[in-house]
Amino acid sequence: MKVLITGIDGYSGWPLALHLLRRGHEVVGIDNFVTRKRVKEVGSWSATPIGSFAKRQEAVDRLLGKKITFYKGDMTKFPFVVDVLRREKPDTIVHLAEQRSAPYSMIDVDHAVRTQVENITGTLHLLYAIREATPESHLVKMGTMGEYGTPNVDIPEGFFEIDYNGKHDRLPFPRQAGSWYHWSKVFDSGDVMFATKIWNLKSTDVMQGIIYGTRTPEITDDALLTRFDFDETWGTALNRFAVEAVLGLPITPYGKGGQVRGFIALEDSMQSLRLAVENPAKSGEYRVFNQFDAAYTINDLAELTHRVARDLGLNPRIEHPPDPRVEAEQHYYNPIHENLPALGYKRSRNLEEVLREIFKDLIRFRRRLEKRRHVVMPTVDWRQGDNTASLGARHSGGPAAPTPPTASEDPSRTPA
Ligand SMILES: NC(=O)c1ccc[n+]([C@@H]2O[C@H](COP(=O)([O-])OP(=O)(O)OC[C@H]3O[C@@H](n4cnc5c(N)ncnc54)[C@H](O)[C@@H]3O)[C@@H](O)[C@H]2O)c1
Repeated sequence: MKVLITGIDGYSGWPLALHLLRRGHEVVGIDNFVTRKRVKEVGSWSATPIGSFAKRQEAVDRLLGKKITFYKGDMTKFPFVVDVLRREKPDTIVHLAEQRSAPYSMIDVDHAVRTQVENITGTLHLLYAIREATPESHLVKMGTMGEYGTPNVDIPEGFFEIDYNGKHDRLPFPRQAGSWYHWSKVFDSGDVMFATKIWNLKSTDVMQGIIYGTRTPEITDDALLTRFDFDETWGTALNRFAVEAVLGLPITPYGKGGQVRGFIALEDSMQSLRLAVENPAKSGEYRVFNQFDAAYTINDLAELTHRVARDLGLNPRIEHPPDPRVEAEQHYYNPIHENLPALGYKRSRNLEEVLREIFKDLIRFRRRLEKRRHVVMPTVDWRQGDNTASLGARHSGGPAAPTPPTASEDPSRTPA
């Protein structure tokens, strides 16, 4: 199959490309490198050193004997998107190219608007381009489990049966997103569902759980590493906890730490996406996959990180700063996830195993973490309309101010 991955330079796009190549698929990619730029904007960098995209392509050629066709460009430019589809005529398009940070979207009005305009525009452009250039392509759209929020009932896969005032229907399950970013994903879901209906497209909307890990079986060399973010804006809770433990900072679950979320290992997220690619939706079908493996509380993650860190001779402690987000700190959480197992999905890694591997990589790149230790603690508060002052304080002098990396220290600065 020929698969187009939008966002191929990202945390999940890059290992997906490697995984699909190994399975014998042809891979084409799109990216505008905005994640690299925005992580730098908040004073951080990837814990793992990432080469320019040209260097990544060379590594794939040298180590795997495969080629990736790449188009640098922005999903918010319709002529670019439709042109790539007309030239490449992919069988499947995996759409990952979106602004993916909830805290980034909560910085201020500008970041909120940018997140929603870019994400929704990119998806609409892709839908129109598919209709025009490749109506037979299967779209695998990356959404998030965060679209559902944390309702006090079980969460089905996209749709549920309801009886109301004597009538029965199957309806989209209500979404209660918790950030401007997550709401952009909700709007995307509505647009993909509607476009599929009116244009008889094929689509899979993936409610992606939080991904963890630095490795997949295809990452066999440092030149093939994927990015790993750990700052308050771009890093997930587990990433931040592991980095905190390595740096001798307290491990910091926000608030009571009873927030529950669905998680999945990077390798298993790739397995799930590949299963979606290789088992396409039918014409006119909009299907939803809840893509996670197990649910944990934030306290579970903190305690596991604490235990693994101690085993490795580190001396961590856990502290609970106030929760900067507006969210339930203790709640019911039971999402259903049956569609992927029905296609043959099997968990390959458990959380503890992967966490030990994360620590191994982080300890190797400790110097890179040391240089960015000031970016881990939260400054973006959901209740504030404008967080630029607190975020900016990190950049503008004082002991916490970051030192800009030199090009030799940070290969991600090499123009791609
Ligand atoms: N990582 C997770 O835990 C997680 C969880 C749930 C959902 N998701 C979703 O999965 C997708 C991929 O996430 P990720 O962690 O790989 O993010 P990422 O930021 O590492 O990767 C996204 C890539 O898309 C590119 N991009 C962004 N906007 C673009 C645009 N307008 N045009 C062209 N390229 C653009 C970025 O430069 C980046 O390389 C996102 O849609 C995200 O919302 C991720």
